[in-house]
Amino acid sequence: MNTISNIHTLKQELKSKSGSIGFVPTMGALHEGHISLIKQAREENDIVVVSIFVNPTQFLAGEDLDKYPSKMLADEKICDLAGVDFLFTPDINTMYTQDEVLIKAPILRSYTLEGERRPGHFDGVLQVVCKLFNIVNPTNAYFGKKDAQQLSLIKQMVENLYMDINIIECEIIREVDGLAMSSRNVYLSQDERLQSLQISKSLKIATKKIMSGINSCDEIIGYMENTLEGIEIEYIAIVNRQFEKIESIDLKNTIILVAVRIGNTRLIDNIWV
Ligand code: PAF
Repeated sequence: MNTISNIHTLKQELKSKSGSIGFVPTMGALHEGHISLIKQAREENDIVVVSIFVNPTQFLAGEDLDKYPSKMLADEKICDLAGVDFLFTPDINTMYTQDEVLIKAPILRSYTLEGERRPGHFDGVLQVVCKLFNIVNPTNAYFGKKDAQQLSLIKQMVENLYMDINIIECEIIREVDGLAMSSRNVYLSQDERLQSLQISKSLKIATKKIMSGINSCDEIIGYMENTLEGIEIEYIAIVNRQFEKIESIDLKNTIILVAVRIGNTRLIDNIWV
């Protein structure tokens, strides 16, 4: 594996190779969720590129930018073992200049749910992903369904800007007890970690109720609220794949999303039904 932090060097290296490029953009602190994306990219492409860049433009003031978990040496080892060809590790001055052309996320799909709580977050995500796509020029780019709204907006950006890139949607990877893998799980104390199990439990109950024939979204949300009792809920939402709120479940076109705060940690999860 070749670790590169310079854009020009990476571009030159990639230009000298032929074949498909699979790309996994990350902010580091890699876990099993990232590893499964990398493995899929490895299986489906000739060359695999992973980026590690904690992108400041997607963090709001007061969020965890300064304490975002970082473990570069371990991440490098993980990438190497997973068969990554190029690990791209730019610094902030490599990625950004003082006065930048900006990308604005579409209003309807980005200022609800995550975007309502974190205004401007998706502008920053799209800005950095657009830059990374232009640097790596991937054939296939891999994103987890856990960040469902991010995934949907990246797909829309690729469509709206006529980017010739396949966005591959990858399943959520969970701990054995159901908690969705996230770099932020390390913030949880033992008690909080136990409490966090209610999140995936609420989604399981929602699925069970849907399978038993209930299709009113309000009713499903009610069951989820009961399961999450005692936890600070930021939102529970049921939307279609275009992120429009719906009133009744439309099988194979529905996403149920939940965001909660446990202690100081904000956790999100979802299920696609
Ligand atoms: O999902 C993430 O880790 C980040 O939002 C991404 C896509 C790497 C952009 O910084």
